Amino acid sequence: MTGEQICGDLDRLKEAGAPLEAILDRAVRRLHESHPKFHWTGIYELFPDDLLRLGPFLGAPTDHVFIGVGQGVCGTAVAERRNINVPDVTKVANYLACSTATKSELVVLIRQGDTIFAQIDVDSHECNAFDDASVHDVELVAAWLATEYARHRAAAGSRTAPTRA
Ligand code: SME
Repeated sequence: MTGEQICGDLDRLKEAGAPLEAILDRAVRRLHESHPKFHWTGIYELFPDDLLRLGPFLGAPTDHVFIGVGQGVCGTAVAERRNINVPDVTKVANYLACSTATKSELVVLIRQGDTIFAQIDVDSHECNAFDDASVHDVELVAAWLATEYARHRAAAGSRTAPTRA
């Protein structure tokens, strides 16, 4: 599936009333299954205490369930507020190894304006695995998910907003 097709699939899931968790699961699965070089695909959600927490993922289990902002490739992407494509992880000084088989890594932020909600993290067993087309697919899905996170935040905010006398 292309990124556009994955977003179409997520549209249908959302219209069927699926909760955010099911949408995140589907996004990870579709990306993972559509790209043969994606050997680990997951979402880390950013919490207000500046900690990334592992959400849904496919691939080998990782010890890095929590990652501080500024730590590793994932935490650096948040600290520097940018997507990071690492063609060779051995060249990154603060890289956190998920698996010794990982050779390259891609982190794309799920963000809307200044607000970072989460990130899509992908590892590959091949060096330089992430070409423009695969990065574009991950970016499209991240942008789709950002809109969904924003909608959920707004809904949660309106439920907890204090009522005025
Ligand atoms: N390699 C990441 C850690 C997460 S695992 O790859 C799943 C990093 O350096 O932040």
